[in-house]
Amino acid sequence: MTDDVSKPILNVLKGETLSPPPIWMMRQAGRYLAEYREVRSRAKDFIDFCFSPDLASEVTLQPIRRFGFDAAIMFADILLIPIALGRRVWFVTGEGPKLDPFDVANFQELADRREDSVLASIGETLRLTKAELPAEMTLIGFAGAPWTVATYMVEGGGSKDRFKTRVAAYDQAEAFDAMMNIIADATADYLVMQAHAGAEVLKIFDSWAEGLPEPLFDRVIIRPTKRIVDRIRAQGVDLPIIGFPRGAGTLYPKYARETGVTALALDTAVDPKWMDENLPAGLPVQGHLDPAVLRTGGAVLKAEVDRLVDAWSDRPHIFNLGHGITPDVPVAHVEQLIRSVRDR
Ligand code: CP3
Repeated sequence: MTDDVSKPILNVLKGETLSPPPIWMMRQAGRYLAEYREVRSRAKDFIDFCFSPDLASEVTLQPIRRFGFDAAIMFADILLIPIALGRRVWFVTGEGPKLDPFDVANFQELADRREDSVLASIGETLRLTKAELPAEMTLIGFAGAPWTVATYMVEGGGSKDRFKTRVAAYDQAEAFDAMMNIIADATADYLVMQAHAGAEVLKIFDSWAEGLPEPLFDRVIIRPTKRIVDRIRAQGVDLPIIGFPRGAGTLYPKYARETGVTALALDTAVDPKWMDENLPAGLPVQGHLDPAVLRTGGAVLKAEVDRLVDAWSDRPHIFNLGHGITPDVPVAHVEQLIRSVRDR
């Protein structure tokens, strides 16, 4: 009978404005939680952790049990798709993700080596999580957007300004676009698999959409994201899709109009007034508290929660951070955040 239970997050994504807004946090399963660190220490390495449904589902549920967030986001990583496309990915403690740098001229290799069964355990994580999730809470699946995933593949890891990737996008444009299509199609099929495994919302993380000139933004952000949305819809999946082109700035409205996403996740730099005036009427937004404000806590946190909740009171709004929670945040600040949003 779970379909009869009203889920605040799904209601907002259908266009309802709720007061107080529902809330979850980017990276809510993570190192700021002692119980996460305990489970994490049982896995061989981070990738193995992501591919262990028992452990991944356990940490997905931890922040739900502790804080009662309105959504659980499956525990996985955006860098699993490169693995399914035959690339090697590993994490170095203190440095983050590492990959063998990829020459986009070799794009065909990605399609030739694509192996979707690599990602099957993520479906199992979703099934295990769904079975335990309280009925009023929403299960979110996700993937990285092709541009953000490509930046890690081309650079061989994180980078300051994605310079090598931007040059490749201009200089090897045809191969680059062909590579983006291959990543986009694998990503869409991965999201469809997640929908079949119980995800109720799909989120596309384009964490490195910032700083691109409009023509390049059209080519590497909007076009591949639209391709993913179209391919998901063509497979009969009608779940809400949240797009997160972090740092898109004045291009957020165009992204919203042209990609076909259901809702937008906004970053910390967004001016709510400008954005509200420029976004399609009624388009749901997921808001954008600065993770540094959450780290600070106290009166600063209270004031920012008030500002953001008030700013979005006339539009369907899900409260969230503008980027992921940092490992140094005291649990008491997360508790304060939830109280501040719910008990104003
Ligand atoms: O709780 C959740 O939000 C779900 C899980 C999730 C993780 N990564 C777990 C994770 C999600 C949605 C992601 C997405 C992700 N991964 C993004 C997009 C969102 C964003 O933050 O911009 C990106 C860019 C990545 C790539 C990635 N994964 C990086 C750069 C790092 C290293 C950063 C660090 O803090 O070390 C990761 C590792 C990672 N992914 C961790 C977690 C909890 C920390 C690793 C650990 O626990 O050892």
